[in-house]
Amino acid sequence: MHVGVLTGGGDCPGLNAVLRAVTLPLVTAGLRVSGVERGFAGLVEDRVRPLDARAVAGLLAVGGTILGTHNRADPFHWGDDGHDASARALDTLRRRGIDALVAIGGDGTMTIARRFEALGVPVLGVPKTIDNDIVGNDRSFGFDSAVAVVSDALDRLATTARSHGRVMIVETMGRDAGWIALEGGLAGGADVILLPEQPFDVDAVAAVCRARAADPGWTLVAVAEGAHPAGGPRVWQADGEGASTPGRLGGIGHWLQDALQPRLDAEVRVTLLGHLQRGGSPTAFDRVLSTRFGVEAALRVRAGRFGVMVALQGRDVVDVALADVAGRTRPVPAGHPLWEAARATGVAFG
Ligand code: F6P
Repeated sequence: MHVGVLTGGGDCPGLNAVLRAVTLPLVTAGLRVSGVERGFAGLVEDRVRPLDARAVAGLLAVGGTILGTHNRADPFHWGDDGHDASARALDTLRRRGIDALVAIGGDGTMTIARRFEALGVPVLGVPKTIDNDIVGNDRSFGFDSAVAVVSDALDRLATTARSHGRVMIVETMGRDAGWIALEGGLAGGADVILLPEQPFDVDAVAAVCRARAADPGWTLVAVAEGAHPAGGPRVWQADGEGASTPGRLGGIGHWLQDALQPRLDAEVRVTLLGHLQRGGSPTAFDRVLSTRFGVEAALRVRAGRFGVMVALQGRDVVDVALADVAGRTRPVPAGHPLWEAARATGVAFG
């Protein structure tokens, strides 16, 4: 059997660790493994290279993906005119003799994987995203690494907040889900956490900052890039709501600074963490999770079990049907224990 592996969507700590963990058991069992370059683009453009034990050696702790990735390459909407190039992708699989595909990616990748499955390609999904927003999966690899960056940033910014009596805002990634801001904010001791799931009131945030200016004298705010004021718009760096291509969120931190500053005596400063959250080496947790996911994916390939995504539920790795994952995302649910823990320890949500 010849297995193709690809990494789709944004890069993320742990991708290389999954490539290693899928490849090693498969080649040990005598299967042939190939890497498809730059996500689904490599299938349309016929960019495929062999993967073996040597190719994946030493990858456990290396960030990014040796295969390259692409977060907009969709064979079903290809090029500027969005035509269907899936036949070219199928042709690549046929000519290369690839019998099955392991697609490592987020909701966009799983949605495309599901479409290939519907065309008869045996596909298996592995959930990746720092956003942690994949349906049916408690934790995607990459999320813990992003949370560690946010937590560390808040620790560092707290020293300036205290020394200068400032309001320090940290803007996190996460698209429409607040997982990174919530868990990173909780870990880094944020006083205010603003999530896409709960539109905020600037006056309420300002009131918290004013009260804290009196005692203890500073405020740390974690704001998710998808957060927005009640009744107000989300803030975009590029494209945006209603645009023909998916927009790029970003800028709510500066929006909040502009809105808060006239309401406060204290200085308000912003730090936008951006791609720092996706870069560098995976945490130990993500290395282990990536390895588990990769090994479980390899086991399913060998067993001929396709059409599913491996997923972490509780402590177990289980199967979730690709059909149940495609086209959906997972926001922080109201009443989630982390949300409640933050509230109980005095965190304000605006
Ligand atoms: O989905 C992961 C993610 O990092 C989001 O949190 C963010 O909105 C987006 O990707 C940024 O994508 P890009 O790297 O294309 O700007």
